[in-house]
Amino acid sequence: MNNKNSDEHGQSTRAIFQKQHERLAADGVALERIRKLYSAEKFQLPGGADWFKGKNCADIGCGNIGALLSQLHSWESKSAIAVDLGDEWIPALKKSLANQGTAKDWCQMRSGSVLDIPIESNTIDFVSINGVLIHLKNMGDIIKGFNEGARICKKGGYYFTCYGPCGGLMEGVIMPAVRNHYHSSPDFKALIDNICVESVHELIDKIVGDAKQYGNQDLDGECLKSLFGTDFCVFLQDFIQPSWLSNECTPEVVEGLYEANGFTDIKRIGGFVKRSDIRKYFAPLHHDRDHNISKILYGSGYVQYIGKKS
Ligand SMILES: C[S@@+](CC[C@H](N)C(=O)[O-])C[C@H]1O[C@@H](n2cnc3c(N)ncnc32)[C@H](O)[C@@H]1O
Repeated sequence: MNNKNSDEHGQSTRAIFQKQHERLAADGVALERIRKLYSAEKFQLPGGADWFKGKNCADIGCGNIGALLSQLHSWESKSAIAVDLGDEWIPALKKSLANQGTAKDWCQMRSGSVLDIPIESNTIDFVSINGVLIHLKNMGDIIKGFNEGARICKKGGYYFTCYGPCGGLMEGVIMPAVRNHYHSSPDFKALIDNICVESVHELIDKIVGDAKQYGNQDLDGECLKSLFGTDFCVFLQDFIQPSWLSNECTPEVVEGLYEANGFTDIKRIGGFVKRSDIRKYFAPLHHDRDHNISKILYGSGYVQYIGKKS
């Protein structure tokens, strides 16, 4: 039971992501994968990357990797405003944006909450709230945060929101149980909080060594190690450490939020995510949401939408 109020809940979420994002921003493989999540085609806007030329963008709950921001910069958008809680993320995001070649004064960074976005109404051409709303305290805050993003979006502008996997065996059953266990078992919590490539590879060495001792000579430890890098370790932390309300953010609920805020051209966004770790064996099932096994494992699949403000 989470007894924190919305502010305290947000601060603990922020602390979790500060660390995760520092690890991802410093890992070349992870950063490359995350940047590729944001192709101009993904957003399905008229004119593709050209649509962004000269546009004002906002990334709310931006975190401290800056992969989407650096892509928006590369598509020649005019400016961006990045918002997140507190200010610890600001130097980390500045550093990561500089490493990705983003011009110094292109992005204004503001401390603030998605529940009360420090941006004037109807001023932003492209608003992104990406992976933020599902980590809020409850459905009331999710609706409030969604409405705030809609408020700052200009008429004729586009609003992208990304939630997470919804239902199925993984998010409907397994992950909630794993998260409960994380909060009740200090040993499991310590394992996840400290997980790193070295400890995973050490475990693989033990498994392969023991297996070979007892006759399983065919285990390939090096191949196995190549499937578990930093990106995988942070993926586990991402799915286990913070609270998740992605089961509540069904396609129907999200479409309803866009409609209630006067958006049209509401489109669900998909796309194949090319991965280099163990998840590459699951990526085809993440992508093909209609496959029977995908539905069993992932329910409605990953939920992300874009809509146009009318
Ligand atoms: C999964 S991360 C996503 C970061 C970024 N949008 C991205 O896709 O890389 C979630 C982010 O939401 C931020 N967040 C959580 N609650 C928030 C709130 N009430 N207002 C603004 N940001 C919030 C966290 O601090 C964190 O940076």
